[in-house]
Amino acid sequence: MESSSSHLLAALALLAACLSPAHSQYLTQDDIPSDPADKATVVGRWFVAPHDGFQGLKTINPFLTDEDLRYTKRGDDCDDRKKSEVCAELPSWFSGLGLSQPTAADGIRFIGITDGGPANGCKEPDGTPDEVSHKDFVVPAFAPVVSEFRINLEAGALLLDNHCFLKGADGAPLTGLPNTDRDDVPFSGGDCEDQLDRSIDGIDPEDVQKIPGTDLCLGGDEYSPSMFIFNCNFGSEDCGTVLTRYIPEGLELPGAAYEVRPILPGAFLNRRKGRGFESAAISPDGKAAILLLQSAMGSDEDDSPFALSHTMHAVKLNISDPADARVLGHFLYIGENVENWFDSDEPKDTKLSSATWVSEFAGTDNDVLVVMERRKDQVTPL
Ligand SMILES: *[C@@H]1O[C@H](CO)[C@@H](O)[C@H](O)[C@H]1NC(C)=O
Repeated sequence: MESSSSHLLAALALLAACLSPAHSQYLTQDDIPSDPADKATVVGRWFVAPHDGFQGLKTINPFLTDEDLRYTKRGDDCDDRKKSEVCAELPSWFSGLGLSQPTAADGIRFIGITDGGPANGCKEPDGTPDEVSHKDFVVPAFAPVVSEFRINLEAGALLLDNHCFLKGADGAPLTGLPNTDRDDVPFSGGDCEDQLDRSIDGIDPEDVQKIPGTDLCLGGDEYSPSMFIFNCNFGSEDCGTVLTRYIPEGLELPGAAYEVRPILPGAFLNRRKGRGFESAAISPDGKAAILLLQSAMGSDEDDSPFALSHTMHAVKLNISDPADARVLGHFLYIGENVENWFDSDEPKDTKLSSATWVSEFAGTDNDVLVVMERRKDQVTPL
C-alpha cells in the first residue's frame, strides 16, 4: 500500500508539474483544499529551516552581546537542556502567526511574531501577594522579532525569508519587559536573582496580522493590554518600527519611544495579568480589526465574582487610518460550556489563542471570525 500510493503521488506530482509550468515549489492557495470540510484537516506539518549561517538570537537580534546571552545554552549544550533552559540557536517564532500574502503565486507568505522573549516563572519570596507574579527573563535585552516564511514543499520545510526586530521611533531596539506595576515583576539571573527595571515601552506580542494594502502590521499585546501598529516592510530599514500603540483609557506610558493613544475601553484594564490580546483579526479590506482577550476578566480567585466567568471581552476598531484608529464597539464572546470539555471544570482554564476573519467564506457581510479556543492539555502535539 505504501509503495503503490507513493507511486501514484509521484505520478500525480509529475502530471501537475507538466500541466502547470508555473507550479511553485512553495505552498500556494491551490495546494489547500477549498471545499468545505466536515471537520478541520491537517494539510501538512513543517519545521522551520533557517538559512545558511543562521545563528539564532544573534542573527535576529544582531545587537545582542555575549554578555546579554550569558544565561542561554549553545552548541552541544542545547541537546540535553532542561525545559526551562534556553538554546540561543533556537528562537521561538510563533507567539502569533498570520497570513501576509495568502494569494501570492510564488508561495503564501506567513507572518510570525515572537513573544517578549524567553522567560520563566520563578520562586517568589515568602509573603509575595497573590496578585504579584515574578518572571525571570533569560535574555532581558531581547527585542521581539517579526518574520516572514514560505512553505517549501520540495524541502518539506518552513523557510525563513525575512525578519526584523521591533524598534522605537529612534531606531533603538525595544524589549519585551513589563511596562508598569500592572504587569509581572521582571528579574534575571536564573531563579529571580536580580530584579530588573521595568521598561515603559516593552511589548509582549501575542498575535500579528498584515494590514491589507499597506506596509503595516497590527499586533496584539499582553501588557496593558494593547494593540500596536508597526512597519513590516521587510525591504525597508524602518522594518519593525512601532508607530502607534493603543492602550486602555486611564493608563499612561510616559516617555515611550513611539506614540501612545489611550483609546481602548477602560474596562480592559481589568484583564488578568498575563492574559492580554492573544487574538487579532483584520477584515480583508483592511478597514476593521477585532481583538479578543485570552481569558475572562477580573480576579480568578475562588471568592471572586468572576471566578466562574467564561465571558471573554473583545474590541472592534476602525483601522482605516492605522495611525488614528477608533473604537467601533465592545463585544462579549461566550466560551464553550466547561461541561463540554473533558478534563477540567475550571472556566479560567479556557483560553482564546487565535482568530481569523472569514466573512468572505461564510458568504455574509456580517463580521464572522473563526476563533481557536483551547484548554490545558487538550491540544495533541503532532
Ligand atoms: C472609519 O474611519 C474613516 C476615516 O478614517 C471614516 O471615513 C469611516 O467612515 C469610518 N468607518 C466607520 C465604520 O466608522
